[in-house]
Order: sequence, then structure tokens, then C-alpha cells
Amino acid sequence: LRARDFENTGHGPLYRRLQTAIKAIIDDGILKVEDALPSERDLATELGISRVTVRNAVRALVEDGVLIQRHGAGTFVAPRVEQALSRLTSFTEDMTTRGMSPGAVWLEKSVGYATPEEAMALNLSPGTEVARFRRLRTANDKPMALEFAVVPKQFIPHPEEVDKSLYDALAKYGKKPDRALQRLRAELFDNETARALGVPEGSAALYIERRSFLANGTPVEFTRSHYRGDSYDFIAEMQVDA
Ligand code: GLP
Repeated sequence: LRARDFENTGHGPLYRRLQTAIKAIIDDGILKVEDALPSERDLATELGISRVTVRNAVRALVEDGVLIQRHGAGTFVAPRVEQALSRLTSFTEDMTTRGMSPGAVWLEKSVGYATPEEAMALNLSPGTEVARFRRLRTANDKPMALEFAVVPKQFIPHPEEVDKSLYDALAKYGKKPDRALQRLRAELFDNETARALGVPEGSAALYIERRSFLANGTPVEFTRSHYRGDSYDFIAEMQVDA
């Protein structure tokens, strides 16, 4: 990173441009997960800018979840979220077990008649009522995924009550899913979704479609999500046939 790489580029305050430059270095893989960032003082001296500017850029990147600060140890590139593919868990559980605080920005909560696609996915007869939940899902306020869940209305009699966890709401009525089928596919974010998630247009997304079922086999959820390709790893453990 050299001063000339960002000083004369773009608009806005210098710290914002430094922030963009550091992010680009991470996105390009020059700085990798868990790599340490040089100290504030070294960066300031090397770049010939004030420590306050460096501090502001670093603080903004910490707030974005790109960097993490470990007390007494320094500042590091934040690890990606790793998610096992074999356990059926909710977003809330996934983030809580990692010590992150799950959050949501609600975009839609509605009731309507199942579309043909939804009816097929949920094995419903046409005209059945479904509840729809569209949310931006965040971890420590960093946007992680855009998620659109569809549930038969009969399993979630009061959709307006769903506030935080959909699975907790289903559990209240004894309808927590027991099993799920999941499809993963590489996609690119469309511009609108990229903007909502705060990633550059055309960034890589992991599209995840989940259909989950009650123990008796009744479909309970049809959810389509776009996870940030730059923050999420899905891990599967595999065994040869016995
Ligand atoms: C994950 C799954 C979704 C599921 C959600 C429930 O994000 N991809 O299919 O609906 O978890 O999470 P929560 O209970 O936090 O709303």
C-alpha cells in the first residue's frame, strides 16, 4: 500500500479512500484471513499521513466486519464464517455460537396465496395461504445474507409476531423443522442486492435454497438466500460408503 495508490484517487475524505484501499488489498488476497495489519503508527509513517486518518479508516473497517481488533495483539483480517453443511441450524444459532450478535433488517412480512413455485416447493394445493419473510441478515451489524423465507400460514398463525428468529417462532407452535434439503449454487449478486449487502456490484454470491420438513415429512419452509461470497464458507464432512 502506497500513498499514491489512494491519495489522488476518488473523492471523499482521505480516511474513506484509505479504507477502500485496505479493503481492496484484502479482496485481492494480498492480505489474507488472520493476517495482521501493520500498526497504526507504522502505517501512518509509511504513508506519510496522520495517525488519526489511519485510525478512522481502521475503525470503519472494524465496524464493517472486515477487520477485527484483538486486545493487546493488534488488528487482523476478520475470519470468514464457517458453516457446517450437515447440521440443521438457524441463522440465529449459527451467529450466536460464533459469539456474534444476529440481527435483521426487515424488508417484507406478508401473507398471500402461494405462487405455483411456492406451492410446488411446499407441496401445497394452489390457493393455500403462505407467510413471506424477506430480511437482510446481519452479524454484529455486518450484512451477511439476503433471505426470503416462505412458510405455510397454518404453521405460523401470527406472522407479524416473527421478530428475530423464524425457527424460534415455529418452535413456539411445535413446528420447528426436523430435516432439510439444501441446494447451493454460485451466482453473482444483482445490483440491488449488492447494494443492500454493501458489496461491490457483480460480487460473488452463494445462493442457498432450503426446504425443511417436520418429522412427519410435511414441508414447513421454502427459503431462498444469497450469502456474501466474501464472508462465508460452507464445510461438509464426507465419508466413503461403509
Ligand atoms: C438459515 C437458513 C434459512 C432459515 C433461517 C432461520 O438462514 N438458510 O433457511 O429460515 O436460517 O433462521 P432464524 O431462525 O434465525 O430466522
